[in-house]
Order: sequence, then structure tokens, then C-alpha cells
Amino acid sequence: MDKLDEEKELLERIFNQTIDIIIVKDWNGKFVKCSPSLAHLYNTTPEEMVGKDDFDFTGNKEQAEFFKKNAQAIMEKGQREIVIEESTNTENGEVRQFRSIKTPFINHRGEKQIIVVAQDITDIIKLQNEHQFILKAMKVGTWSWDVVNDKLEWSDANYEVFGIDKKDFSGAFDAWEKMVHPEYLKTVKLELQQALDGVRVFNTTFPILTPEKELRYIGGKGEVYRDQAGKPIKMIGVNWDKIVEHLNFLENEERKKILHHQAKLASIGQLAAGVGHEINNPLAIADGIVSILKSNLLKAGTIEIETLLTQLEKVTKAHQRIVKIVQGLKSFSRSDTEELELIDPLETINETLNMISDLYKNAGIEFLLDTTNYLKPVFIYANKGLLQQVFLNLFSNAKQALSRSKDKKIEITLEEKKQEIFIRVKDNGSGIPEEIKDRIFDPFFTTKDLNEGTGLGLSIVYSTVKEFKGKIILKSDVNIGTCFELSFPVVYQQKERQQEGA
Ligand SMILES: Nc1ncnc2c1ncn2[C@@H]1O[C@H](COP(=O)(O)OP(=O)(O)OP(=O)(O)O)[C@@H](O)[C@H]1O
Ligand SMILES: [Mg+2]
Repeated sequence: MDKLDEEKELLERIFNQTIDIIIVKDWNGKFVKCSPSLAHLYNTTPEEMVGKDDFDFTGNKEQAEFFKKNAQAIMEKGQREIVIEESTNTENGEVRQFRSIKTPFINHRGEKQIIVVAQDITDIIKLQNEHQFILKAMKVGTWSWDVVNDKLEWSDANYEVFGIDKKDFSGAFDAWEKMVHPEYLKTVKLELQQALDGVRVFNTTFPILTPEKELRYIGGKGEVYRDQAGKPIKMIGVNWDKIVEHLNFLENEERKKILHHQAKLASIGQLAAGVGHEINNPLAIADGIVSILKSNLLKAGTIEIETLLTQLEKVTKAHQRIVKIVQGLKSFSRSDTEELELIDPLETINETLNMISDLYKNAGIEFLLDTTNYLKPVFIYANKGLLQQVFLNLFSNAKQALSRSKDKKIEITLEEKKQEIFIRVKDNGSGIPEEIKDRIFDPFFTTKDLNEGTGLGLSIVYSTVKEFKGKIILKSDVNIGTCFELSFPVVYQQKERQQEGA
């Protein structure tokens, strides 16, 4: 076999093996040569096809006419063209789509002929249509942004997502810029830039106002395509109407509020149950004593004035306890309505100390105030009266814990660090045993005698500190002492700068 024969055989093999359709046609649209793939579609053999045209096999005159005219135009121009066209399967009548590359040439006899290489894209188009259908049904629009030439294209569905008519805008960019709220446009553009820079994925939401003045929340997601050097060339993404998600979000927020409210009601209920229990005790005592006194009085002459006085004293104590409980509860309810203002905590501490220093001195207690790390006054959002209550409660607990200590000290430290102020109240008293540490903030939890404590002090401290957006940490060791650390976010305010400037 010589070289020419060998090449001919190879060409023949390629021709016969290809899945794509390869045809050579003459000026009149007659087949000169064609691959078995088309012969199969036309339910015949390649040999049978030579000298005949499409009509001979499909019987579709219109289609055959189109093929012929189109091929002639291309041969006339002498330039290659890509055409998307349809062809019919003669066996089952199915119409299939092809992407045909048509290349005109002049054969060795000087006649104009054309080579058509056609790729069956029916399945791709079907998939594309399905894809479009799904996106449209789900009201999702697509966009494609040619980053290099700065050209944006929208699918028709995207115009629907934005609730606008395509023809009212000069292009997708025009539509986008006019619809998005100017403030958000800036943000979204920044987010796009960040996506191109590769610092974050593009996933955003922005509000628009449709021509019908309807507010919509549009979701946007996109992916960046890059060249080999990593330079962005294209972004492809989707937009969808997010109003349902947005409404769900709002509903969720509302639900959270309700839950919060319910939790509050539950805690009030718990409190009320506790109050009932606590008040019942002193009431029972008072009631019991009164009935004893009554029956004693009935047995006239048997009661001594001394006994009468001690019994009545017990009634007074019970009464005092009720008053104390009710007072404590009042400071709970009050903290809800009290206005917050800028407060320098040191000032409040000094005022509180002024009120009580004599009393504590008499009990042998020394106050130490350390402000080494509190160099300039800072301000927190709080309420002065309530903050005083917090310190009074902490001091009074410390005082009671110190009753059996020799060297009675209460150390107060103020420290400002990283926009936070730390206030520590430390005593060297009895300390708090591990097993009750997580209960001491509960309302009515007390280890003190009936007439000494209500157990409301620390729960008031806790709720007040929370109200001022603060935190509270407890450190305590039995027989060594206890430290309560409060911390609050610092609010720097003009009030301070004005003072400094003046
Ligand atoms: N500094 C402290 N040292 C040791 N124990 C403390 C200290 N502070 C609180 N406690 C413990 O925590 C319990 C609860 O304190 P809380 O202030 O809530 O109530 P109370 O002091 O018992 O009563 P009230 O404050 O109404 O007089 C106390 O009974 C005590 O056992
Ligand atoms: Mg207390």
C-alpha cells in the first residue's frame, strides 16, 4: 500500500467513525459524499445518498429548500459560517437540532462545493430549555457579566424578578443601576469588587422599588470565572425575589420577641410563686401568735404583760419582713421603666460610700478604693439610683460575710481596659461554698436567718447589671473571701470631650 492509499484509508475511517455528521454537497444541494451518521438518520446507506438531496429522504420540501439556499449563499460568499438548523429523522419523524459548520470550497474541476460538519445539539438544547423552565418556574433570573468588556446580560426571567419591562431600558446595566436603591447600589458594587478580588463570595440581598412602587428584596449570588493567571474574566449569577424569605425572617423576629415575652412572664410567675411562699411564712407566724394571744386573753388574767410584749414583738418582726420583701420586689419592677443615662461609675461609688461609711466604720470595716488603672473618667449607660442599689447590695453582703473575720476589709477596684470598665468588690469574709455558687443569684435564695435576709439582693444585682448590658463574674473561696467582678461596655460621649475641651 503506498502512502496515498494509506492516507485515503485513514480519512475514510475518520469519516465512517465520526458521530458528528460530515457531508460534501454540490451547488444544487446533491450529496457528493456523506458520513454513515447522516445515512443512519435518513434510514439509508452513504452509497445510496450520492447524487440525491435531502428532499429525496425526508420528503420535507421546505427544509430541503432552506438547506440548499443557505449552502448556496455561503458558497457565493466563499466564507465559513456556523448555522443552527433542524433536520428530521426519517425513521421516526423526530426533529433534531444541529450546529453546522459550513465551509465552502472549489473542487479540482473548479466547481463550488460545501463541506458541512453538523453536531447534534438536541440534548443540550433540551437540557437548556429544561433549565430555563425550572429557573422561570422558580422565579429565578440569571445574569452574566463580561468583566473584561464590562457587559452585563440578563435572562428574560431576571427582568421579571425585577418586575420591569426589558424594552424600557437600554441594557441590563441600565436596568440594574436604575432599580437598586442608590445607597445599596454602592454596597452591592463593593461586594462585587470583593468577589472579583477573591476576598469573599458574592451572596447578597438588596431592596428595589418596581415601577408599580412595590418594594422587593432581591437575593443575588454569583461566581467568578478567571483566566489561567487568576484574573477575573466573567461572573455568572442568579437573582431571585426574596420577599418570602424576608417575611419569614420578620416573622421569626416577631416570634423571638414573643418567646422573650413569654420567658419574662414565666420568670414573673416564678417570682410570684416565691413571693407567695415567702410572705406566707411571716403571715403564718403573725397569725399563729395573734390566735395564741386571743385564746390567752379569753382566759383572762392568765397572761403576763412580759409574754404579751415578746409575742407582739414577733408579730412586728413578721410584719417588717413582709415590708422588706415587698420593697425588694418593687426594685425589680422599677428597673424596667427607669431611664438610662451616662454615668461615671466612680462618682456613683463615692456617693454610695459617703452614705454608709460611718455605719461600716462602726462595724469595724475598712474600705479600700483602688483606681490605679482608671485614669480618666469614662461613662457607661446606667441609672444612678439603680447602680447605687447594686453597690449597696454587694457591700451589705460583704458586711454580713465579714461578721466573723478579724481584719475586716472591702476592696473596690476600678479598671478601664479595651472599651470596658471592670468594677470589683472584694471581701475577706466567709466565702461561698461551691455547691451553692450557682444558686446565689436566684430570687429568695438565702443562707441567712429568717429575719436577716430575703434572698433578693443578688437577684436584683444580677437583673440590674444585665439591664446595663453588663456582665457579672463571681470568684469565691470558703474562709478566704469573695469577689464580685462587674463589667460594663464603656460609652465615650461628647459629654466627656466637651469637658476636656472646656
Ligand atoms: N460576699 C459574700 N460572701 C459570702 N456569701 C455571700 C456573699 N454575697 C452573697 N452571699 C451568699 O449569697 C446568698 C444570697 O445573697 P443575696 O444578697 O441574694 O441574699 P441575702 O443577702 O441572703 O438577702 P438580702 O440581700 O435580701 O438581705 C447569701 O445568703 C449568702 O449565702
Ligand atoms: Mg444580700
